Order: sequence, then structure tokens, then C-alpha cells
Amino acid sequence: AAVDDDRSSPPEEHGDIVSDLPSSTALGMVLRQYRGSWVIQERVTGFISLQRRFTPRPGDVLLASPAKCGTTWLKALAFATMARGAHPPAGAQHPLLRMNPHECVPFMDELFTAGQDARLEALPSPRLMHTHMHRSLLPASVTHNPDCKIVFICRDPKDMLVSLWHFLKGVRPFTFADLFNSACEGKSPNGPIWDHLLGYWSASKTSPDNVLFLRYEEMLIDPVGHVRKLARFIGQPFSHTDEAAGIPADIVKLCSFDKLKGLSANKAGSYDGKIFNFSHESFFRKGVAGDWVNNMTPEMAQRFDTIIEDKLRGSGLTF
Ligand code: A3P
Repeated sequence: AAVDDDRSSPPEEHGDIVSDLPSSTALGMVLRQYRGSWVIQERVTGFISLQRRFTPRPGDVLLASPAKCGTTWLKALAFATMARGAHPPAGAQHPLLRMNPHECVPFMDELFTAGQDARLEALPSPRLMHTHMHRSLLPASVTHNPDCKIVFICRDPKDMLVSLWHFLKGVRPFTFADLFNSACEGKSPNGPIWDHLLGYWSASKTSPDNVLFLRYEEMLIDPVGHVRKLARFIGQPFSHTDEAAGIPADIVKLCSFDKLKGLSANKAGSYDGKIFNFSHESFFRKGVAGDWVNNMTPEMAQRFDTIIEDKLRGSGLTF
């Protein structure tokens, strides 16, 4: 459906555009197919507003991810890295010791859905934000902007599905088979997963200075190396003084699974996702690679692997 160019439209005024989009029901939610991606119906108007209204600034850093691929961890690492001047990571007053990482890095999809995008405007530069949107949903002012850095994180899609199942089953009544089947069809929230991956993967190959493609499993193996890579990518490399003071290792320690999970800020309270409400605790489950074996039959795993392999064939991306 065509979208006019009125940058001042509030999200509620795009209902006619939404009702023209293909729809599907999955996991008790109505999804709409918008620019190739299946998105929760309630989010579409916000995405349209975002495309019209979002104005990138030099130095913006956008974290991007499919759900349940390590967003919370990446948010914490990126926030601690970018804020290290004002907030030394070993300091007793660090914001991550009293706030959930999702409170430190705003989720732009949700702010636009709620018509609260002014909160992004109010952030001082350089801004750090997050999206679950496919790259095809981002405005060209972001994707074709050498001053805007995108850091994408993903993980083995099987682990992503299992993590999503544990996360959503508390707020939605559906079975793992429901989730599995909708993911295989590509019709799960922010699906198809393969297009989500390919959009950022291709961009990381053609524009490596603008898109950094990270994998959760590799970060688990060498978190300090990845923090250094992240800092270099966003144009804030660690100085010799930072290195001598052990700042990269302190950031990794502060953001480690055990450290964050154990904080009272993450044991209590909840995150208001506008459409859903998630306890802070629910963002920290096991934090390991390969837990799919405990939740998926070998047949399911093989079916899903085959689909993913098929869809990614020729791209150079494998899991
Ligand atoms: P599991 O459910 O497999 O344990 P997201 O943050 O995108 O919602 O992803 C959640 C996944 O990241 C969960 O995986 C969660 O346990 C894991 N996770 C959360 N914080 C982490 C951290 N600091 N280090 C490593 N993994 C983390």
C-alpha cells in the first residue's frame, strides 16, 4: 500500500493502510505483512511513522536483532562501552547496577508504536537505540547514512525459537509446536527469520563500516574481543589508558549473565513493552548456546535447519 509523505501524522491515522496489508494469525496475534516482514498489527502504524519522522543524527548507534538473540546483553555491553567516560564500568554507582538494560537503551519500535518518539529526540548525542525491525523496514535515512552505525546480533535460530518459547509462553497461551510451525512458515512476529538475518548480513558485507554483524555464540567464546570490536566499530576504540585500566574486561564482567541476573534491579520489576509486559527476570534464562536440544526433537531440528539452510543458500551465512 502506498504511504503518503506527511511527516506529522500521529500513528493512529494510518489505519486504512494497515487494513490493506495481508494478514495472518499466529500465537493468538494478528500479524500484517509490511515491506516483506510479518509484524504485530499494533506496530505497523508506528513503523510507518518511524519511516516518516525518524531523523538520524551523526553518531547514532542502532542495535538491531531478532527477538531472543542476546539483545539484553548487547544493550548492556554497548551502553557500558559508550558511557564508560561518565560511568566507569567498575564503579559502584553504574546505572546497570540499578536499571535493567532495557531501561538504559530505548526500543524505538515500541516508542513509535506508542507515539512517544519524542523521547528519542530528547536523548543527547551520541544516541544508542534498539530495533527488532528488519532492515527493509528502516528508513533510507538510516540504512544509507554513513554516520549511522548498526550493530546486529543473532544466534542459532533453533536456540532463538526455544528462548522465544520460554519467554512468550508466560504471556500468551500457545504450544511450542504452534511457534515452531509459524516460524517454519516465516509467519512469526518479525518473521521470516531468514529475511531478518539476510537483510543485515548482506548490508554487513557491502557496508562493513556501517553494519556490524555479531553472533551470540561467538560472543560467549570471546566477550572481551567482541567488546573491543564493538568499541572500534562505533568509533570509540579503547585507548591504551582504557586497556591498562582493564576497562574492556570490566565491561564484560559488569554485563555478564551471572552478574546481571543476580542484581535486584533484574530480579524485580517489569518492562512495559506497551503490547506486552515482561518481568525483568524473564530476560535472563540460561544464557548458553545449544539449549535447543532440551526442547526440540531431532526431527524438528532437522526440519528447521533444512529450511534455514535452504533460505540462506548462496549468501555465505550459515549456522
Ligand atoms: P536463553 O533463553 O537461551 O537463556 P534477548 O535479550 O534478545 O531477549 O535474548 C535473551 C537471551 O539472552 C536469553 O537466552 C537470555 O538468557 C540471554 N541473556 C540475557 N542476558 C545475557 C547476558 N548478560 N549474557 C549472555 N546471555 C544473556
